Amino acid sequence: MKVAIFGASGGTGSLLTERCLGAGYEVTALLRSPEAFPFRDRVRPIEGSAFDGDAVRRTVDGADVVLSALGARSLKKEDVLERAVPLIVEAMRDTGVRRIVALGSAGALDDSLSKQPAYRRWIVQSIVYKTLLKWPVASQRAQWRTLSASGLEWTMVMPPMLTNSRARGHCRIDGDALPRNGSRISRSDVADFMMQQIDNPQWIGKGVYIAW
Ligand SMILES: NC(=O)c1ccc[n+]([C@@H]2O[C@H](COP(=O)([O-])OP(=O)(O)OC[C@H]3O[C@@H](n4cnc5c(N)ncnc54)[C@H](OP(=O)(O)O)[C@@H]3O)[C@@H](O)[C@H]2O)c1
Repeated sequence: MKVAIFGASGGTGSLLTERCLGAGYEVTALLRSPEAFPFRDRVRPIEGSAFDGDAVRRTVDGADVVLSALGARSLKKEDVLERAVPLIVEAMRDTGVRRIVALGSAGALDDSLSKQPAYRRWIVQSIVYKTLLKWPVASQRAQWRTLSASGLEWTMVMPPMLTNSRARGHCRIDGDALPRNGSRISRSDVADFMMQQIDNPQWIGKGVYIAW
């Protein structure tokens, strides 16, 4: 299996890379700083930015599947997904790569929180999403729009807050909305779930919420 990974140096992306290498997959990773990447000798590194269409195309070309755990390194307006995901989609179309599993977030859609208690929904939607998480949520909404219009075999995995704790090996999964009172999940469990989606057709063309 040949896998192209975006965001491989990030919290979730490095766990994805580790799992892909452990599974014996051939990994191509787009990296802004390959010299700092712990798995640099075990992947095919492409040095560059996800805002560079040529570097994105070279990363995707020849892959069986694309995994993305891209995101801004801050809560400020960085437009990482707004700029990078259209380039990834375009490169996949041009090179004939069909499958992408992308890390999104539970705030991506209007009805994402429809299963939450009313007070929690109000606090998150009326306060948190309008202040602290304003730009990350806008980016995830943009990612959703781009993937859902892509015509590709896409899956957007939508967790709430990510933690660095160890995998529990189980989580709640819902195709309609974030599971009730789901507020956290570890990056390890998210990486495991994303790996399972590589050849699982169940969530193709859909978003899927996961939470402890
Ligand atoms: N944090 C949370 O609680 C939370 C909750 C739900 C969803 N999410 C979403 O999950 C995703 C991943 O989160 P994370 O915390 O695992 O990631 P992270 O540690 O912030 O890593 C982000 C990755 O994106 C890469 N990146 C950013 N801009 C890039 C560019 N222009 N070109 C190439 N690579 C670029 C970074 O590369 P560098 O190493 O070069 O910086 C890094 O590998 C994000 O989209 C985030 O919105 C986060």
